[in-house]
Amino acid sequence: MSAVLSDAEVDALGERLPLLEGIRTTRAIRRLKPDPVPRALVRKICEAGTFAPSGGNRQPWFFVAVMDAERRAFIAQRYREAFHSYIATAVEAAKDPNYPDRKRRNMLAAIHLADHLHEAPVHLFVAGWTRRGEPQYQALYPAIQNILLACRAVGLGASLTTVHRAHGEEIDAVLGLSADTPSCAMLPIGWPAGRYGRPPRKPVDEVLFFDRVEGAAVSRS
Ligand SMILES: Cc1cc2nc3c(=O)[nH]c(=O)nc-3n(C[C@H](O)[C@H](O)[C@H](O)COP(=O)(O)O)c2cc1C
Repeated sequence: MSAVLSDAEVDALGERLPLLEGIRTTRAIRRLKPDPVPRALVRKICEAGTFAPSGGNRQPWFFVAVMDAERRAFIAQRYREAFHSYIATAVEAAKDPNYPDRKRRNMLAAIHLADHLHEAPVHLFVAGWTRRGEPQYQALYPAIQNILLACRAVGLGASLTTVHRAHGEEIDAVLGLSADTPSCAMLPIGWPAGRYGRPPRKPVDEVLFFDRVEGAAVSRS
């Protein structure tokens, strides 16, 4: 996909994917090509974010799409540092040959993202107004999910990350965000190097109960 798309092409992209199919095939895409993403497409996926519900319809969100290479390098450096200390225990655990393959693959993809974050052409930060001095991150997650789904629809790869919060104040300052509008999540976005597919999820019948939870059936794994 090219960085140069006509307005008509941007308008048409993603408009035909059935909603439930899109939901079932949206997953963390962490291997991204460095090719640029048109601003008009960033606008389109953020517009999807603005259709999310929010308490009292306050719409507390801000979207900051970092496309400047120097800023992305700065963010990636902070992210990488925090990520590697966060993941260290899991890396140790994964040395066990019995460590589940699915978890290992997920971890390797997350490590790849951390080590290549500076190459992701868009670092999309979702920030929002605090309420009585407290961040309202829960108010931003519906918008974040809408954006992830919109990325899926238009063919962009994306994932939801929060590790940058370890350096949140410093990064927010660089983004021009004040303590009244802290960032909640950062979505690295770009054209996917791989393909979409159905993510591994628990079967619905394991987690759906009618009228009453059967306690013994609920497990943490
Ligand atoms: C609240 C939250 C925070 C997350 N933070 C990170 C993160 O900092 N870095 C990362 O690589 N993935 C992060 N993820 C993505 C999850 O690891 C990912 O959704 C999960 O492994 C499922 O991946 P899949 O959709 O490819 O199956 C986060 C997800 C959520 C919901």
